[in-house]
Amino acid sequence: MAIVQEQELSCKQFLSRPKKMLIDGKWVEAESGKTFDTLNPANAEVLATIPEGGKADIDKAVNAARKAFEHGPWRKKTAAERAHCLYKLADLIEERSIEFAQLETLDNGKPLKESRFAAPTAAGIFRYYAGWATKIEGETINANNSFFTYTLREPIGVVGLIIPWNFPTSMVAWKLGPALACGNTAILKPAEQTPLTALYVGELALEAGIPEGVVNIVTGFGPNGAGEFLASHMDVDKVAFTGETATGREILKSSLGNLKRVSLELGGKAPNIVFADADINAAINNAMTGIFYNQGQVCCAGSRLFLEKSIHDEFMSKMIERTNKMRQGPGLDEKTDIGPVVSKEQQERILNYVNIAQSEGAKLACGGSAPGGDLEKGYYVKPTIFESVNNNMRIAQEEIFGPVLAVIPFSTIDEVTEQANQIAYGLSGAVWTQDVKKAHKLAAGIKAGTIWVNCYNKFDPSMPFGGYKMSGYGRELGKQAIELYTNIKSVWVNLGD
Ligand code: NAI
Ligand code: MG
Repeated sequence: MAIVQEQELSCKQFLSRPKKMLIDGKWVEAESGKTFDTLNPANAEVLATIPEGGKADIDKAVNAARKAFEHGPWRKKTAAERAHCLYKLADLIEERSIEFAQLETLDNGKPLKESRFAAPTAAGIFRYYAGWATKIEGETINANNSFFTYTLREPIGVVGLIIPWNFPTSMVAWKLGPALACGNTAILKPAEQTPLTALYVGELALEAGIPEGVVNIVTGFGPNGAGEFLASHMDVDKVAFTGETATGREILKSSLGNLKRVSLELGGKAPNIVFADADINAAINNAMTGIFYNQGQVCCAGSRLFLEKSIHDEFMSKMIERTNKMRQGPGLDEKTDIGPVVSKEQQERILNYVNIAQSEGAKLACGGSAPGGDLEKGYYVKPTIFESVNNNMRIAQEEIFGPVLAVIPFSTIDEVTEQANQIAYGLSGAVWTQDVKKAHKLAAGIKAGTIWVNCYNKFDPSMPFGGYKMSGYGRELGKQAIELYTNIKSVWVNLGD
């Protein structure tokens, strides 16, 4: 059997070491001594026991980061030396791609087919921002001949990075990469469901020569826990968050005390629009990966599939046939196409949406339950498709964050543009057509931060990503992230008498 047996896991050594938090270059327990367990969603077994960081730990970590920012060697390093550390970190992460893949699969549930990209993706992002470290520039400005006027682009200071559980490894790089390239010091708070790979990156950051106190990792919970204490801390200069829209609002409230900078990458409910003239096979494949990749736990999941009426029936029968053939099982099985969702809470939340959809009159085309049988113990949800969905139904309006697709038929480009935008979110959208006019009209017409034309889920470290509307603000990745982690200072030098 292709399933990797636990005794032959490459990450076994890392897993068996006691798990501690990284504060000021040292591995420590929580001040309270409290811990929590992180589980394997494929079988609900405990993977590791993790320190539950609280207020005292956040205080310690913020103090360490402040000391490292103001007095430590990090800011005294040249930009090229900082870049060197990030390149080294990228190499160390990539060298351990198999361990990262296994840890990500064990902690999150996703199939190895997907998690094997986690470390290379993270390494690519660290390299991209390593490149930026030496290219962060101010400007000279010809404001007035009697003055020499210029701008400095400076690091913001101590930054809090709060990340979710859906992409535990690459989210670390999305946040830490630009934060460190710009010369900030950081406290990273991984999601309580998936803390393992962040802690592993912490080990490698020290090995890469990043000085103590520059990267601190505090594990724990969100509300009334490490997350909230970090977001509300008066000595944190910026917080960057990815997660639920409702949590984004809480983070913003927490930030009010010292008016820290906030960037938010929040929920989505992407329209994936297929016109009758599209390459139907490609559109079906991408409609499926659009919603079933990572068990649908993706902020830009194509969770609303708009199908032009004339192709609806043919498209649906092919997609349902293929969906029913997907192999569901533990992520460690190389043959698995779709694994468990991350937690019991998520499984219950998703199955509850299945009930809601049915009570609203949507028609269940496939899936719609937990598979049971051998998979009984894990947090599985069958890949699920609803047809005859109306864009006003809750399953079309709310972020389900699971493998549940809502299919909505349409007749005209104007009708579909309007429905695509009838939503609180605006993170991403996609269009399938051979007609360049339709493609560009919708690329301009959909109110969202990323539009894919005849493709889906394309990412590159150089392409900015972020939301319109309630999907948040600020752009991560690309050179835009450099703006998120720097301040501009204007300097006036009097040249007159
Ligand atoms: P969440 O957004 O509440 O949690 C994400 C991170 O924020 C975790 O590290 C958590 O500990 C932290 N956090 C939570 N509350 C906080 C607070 N008040 N202050 C500071 N930090 C806080 O997401 P959760 O609860 O795990 O999942 C619930 C729903 O959120 C999912 O069903 C999904 O719809 C959505 N979600 C969306 C994501 C996205 O990327 N759009 C990612 C994860 C969840
Ligand atoms: Mg939450």
